[in-house]
Amino acid sequence: MSSLNRVLAIETSCDDTSVALVESGGWVRQLLSAHQDLIHQPFGGIVPELASRDHSQHLIPLIEETLKRANLEWRDLDGLVVTARPGLLGSLLVGLVTTKALALCHSLPWLGVNHLEGHLMAPFLRDEKYQPPQDFDYPYLALAISGGHTQLYRVKALGEYEVLGRTLDDAAGEAFDKFAKLVGLGYPGGVQVDREAQSGAVDKYSFPRALQKEGNLNFSFSGLKTSAQNLIQGWSQEKIKSERAHLCASYQEAIVEALLYKLDQAAEKHKAQRIVLTGGVSANSRLRLRAQEWANRKSYRLVVPPIRYCTDNAAMIGWAGLQRLQRGERSPENLAPSARSLKGDFIELS
Ligand code: KG4
Ligand code: ZN
Repeated sequence: MSSLNRVLAIETSCDDTSVALVESGGWVRQLLSAHQDLIHQPFGGIVPELASRDHSQHLIPLIEETLKRANLEWRDLDGLVVTARPGLLGSLLVGLVTTKALALCHSLPWLGVNHLEGHLMAPFLRDEKYQPPQDFDYPYLALAISGGHTQLYRVKALGEYEVLGRTLDDAAGEAFDKFAKLVGLGYPGGVQVDREAQSGAVDKYSFPRALQKEGNLNFSFSGLKTSAQNLIQGWSQEKIKSERAHLCASYQEAIVEALLYKLDQAAEKHKAQRIVLTGGVSANSRLRLRAQEWANRKSYRLVVPPIRYCTDNAAMIGWAGLQRLQRGERSPENLAPSARSLKGDFIELS
């Protein structure tokens, strides 16, 4: 086994400052995150400048607290891992610069990784309360759904990810968040739409399921948002409020069905046996229920990691990076953050 067994990982690509200690086998020894929801709430969306400022205030104290809680010192670490792309440039920069400085200071090897690779590694994480199903392994289909991304991958091995489909416009989480704002729910809206929808009727309103005839595995959610806008145009606040549960349930159903439709097509086409849902939207209770029913019906093994590993977190980044460091990979000193994934991060099929 490689002598490189424990890394400290840092994730600051969007609006969560997250630090983790990850060990061989995908063991998460410690995971601490600071959330910025209250900071961005008044604006109804993430303000990049505020996000990076908050990361720079919280990152070092969070690293110190993480080591303290694990009862570890810098000399107990074998390396550092950080999210280098894709994400908000200013936010990524805070994590990357901090990592480089700490690596230099403590003479540790370090690596910058792709955030989406982290999401794809989430099902392998384990801790005292969670471990992946015993027979879980490559290959699998993974649907990564969050506020920033909606991508469908075929994961063949570490570093071998075929992109089967992606959203052509809004991400699924963005569709939830924009709708929440429209019907007067706070930010981030996904979890509130989920809650409201519990007491609504899924078929009271009809929203479109886009791209079902095109024969590809891409998604589109911008038409859905427009159709919601058109529906409630001219409605009074009282009417929106009294119909909110039904609106949420019907709108949520459209997103869930759009996601499952393409997942089903992809699973058939690629003869998949294992399916993974990851990213913040996989916390959605209706999606979890419908996805499990679908998987049972089709005899697929569905793995949805616990929410702490589905939403943005440093543990998934640590496990992706630790495996790469063990392979001997290192980042160049001049590695820069990138808002987008780089050519070579993923295998594009079309
Ligand atoms: O993965 P994540 O924490 O951060 C990003 O990379 O974006 O995902 C956040 C997204 C937000 O859009 C949020 O509204 C959505 O996940 N989300 C949900 C639920 N919980 C979080 N969407 C639907 N239902 C939920 N229960
Ligand atoms: Zn993410």
